[in-house]
Amino acid sequence: MLNFDYQNPTRIIFGQGSTSKLSRSVPPKARVLVLYGGGSVRRNGTLDDVLAALQQDGERHVAEFSGIEPNPTFETLMRAVQQVREEQIDFLLAVGGGSVIDGTKFVAAAARLPASEDAWSILESRGRVIKDALPFGAVLTLPATGSEMNAGGVVTRAATHDKISFSSRLLYPQFSILDPVRTYTLPTRQVANGVVDAFVHTMEQYLTYPVDARVQDRFAEGLLRTLVEIGPDAVAKPEDYDTRANLVWSATMALNGLIGAGVPQDWATHMIGHELTALHGIDHGRTLAIVLPAVMEVRREAKRDKLLQYAERVWDIRDGDADARIDAAIARTRAFFESLGVPTRLGDYQLGADAIDPLVAALEKHGMTQLGEKQDITPDVSRQILQAAL
Ligand code: NZQ
Ligand code: ZN
Repeated sequence: MLNFDYQNPTRIIFGQGSTSKLSRSVPPKARVLVLYGGGSVRRNGTLDDVLAALQQDGERHVAEFSGIEPNPTFETLMRAVQQVREEQIDFLLAVGGGSVIDGTKFVAAAARLPASEDAWSILESRGRVIKDALPFGAVLTLPATGSEMNAGGVVTRAATHDKISFSSRLLYPQFSILDPVRTYTLPTRQVANGVVDAFVHTMEQYLTYPVDARVQDRFAEGLLRTLVEIGPDAVAKPEDYDTRANLVWSATMALNGLIGAGVPQDWATHMIGHELTALHGIDHGRTLAIVLPAVMEVRREAKRDKLLQYAERVWDIRDGDADARIDAAIARTRAFFESLGVPTRLGDYQLGADAIDPLVAALEKHGMTQLGEKQDITPDVSRQILQAAL
């Protein structure tokens, strides 16, 4: 096992009705800004419940900022930063999915940046310039990203199509409310995207090379098997509480740092996926379903031992020679995504070979030239991966 230093300070308040416990987690005299997206939380009653809970006790000033878009933009978030400054907000509350929570993290950091510093530096430095951040919490409505219990975020500059991730130890939510009932109104497509996102987060901390990290491996395999088991019902039965509860907790556990502590990681699928979103507007989860099977194919020698372990322990594939078992594991992975209604080829989005050069150029522009667990996924290898995804 590799050395590690792990701390996760986010308090999780889980279960049906847990929004009512919000009040005890937000300081009683706070000046709160509630941030949300395009209106789903207004339509499904979550916002009303949140506002009511905030008024339960305490003398809080509560303001709202709406319109954080999927793949949140720097431009929109800077308007929230301005509101924070004008209204002397001292606590942020994100109500939504990964985009709203990520956006709130950015606002938390940007609002505490010295006025002389351009907030774009947060993204340019991938979070390293962050020395302070406003405290914030989250009410999660979409299980997928793990943003509710991690310290990372992804923000896009709309003007230049730069989609950039950042992180800082100062950006863990103080608490997150995870009520599976809040996810009932999600469109099928977003649920399927969430299953894929959580699956791929787990894979990127698992499918590398063995370091005899048995706990991490078994935890990861448990998450993968759970997602395979519940995926179809999560999509088909929106109001099945236990299925949604297991989905929410799987997605949180897939990216709260626990399974990644002490093991090599390979985030190539995400980094290539971000460029697909930035250049072609494909939903985050859907980009991963295109890229991961191609990464497994192109990196099958480097990942051979773990691919065989994955085949056996996640898919119960035991027959045939090693190459046949790896082929079967890749095919099962692809079929799982497709069974959720998530396509796995660039061609499914009318993208052909001519789309590849601009994607590779974008990876180079963003410094993504040494990806993978051994930093050997060069732009040439990324090109091979995209070719395998055609
Ligand atoms: O904007 P509204 O109207 O709220 O609608 C949203 C949005 O259109 C809707 N939605 C959310 N909850 C709903 C709902 N609709 C009905 N009922 C509900 N309960 O769903 C749409 C998508 O929301 P979004 O937040 O964009 O989705 P997701 O949670 O998948 O987040 C994607 C973003 O997270 C980033 C991605 O890159 C992308 O920008 N990621 C963040 C990570 C992190 N912080 O660790 C890791 C991930 O790998 C990912 O990169
Ligand atoms: Zn993701």
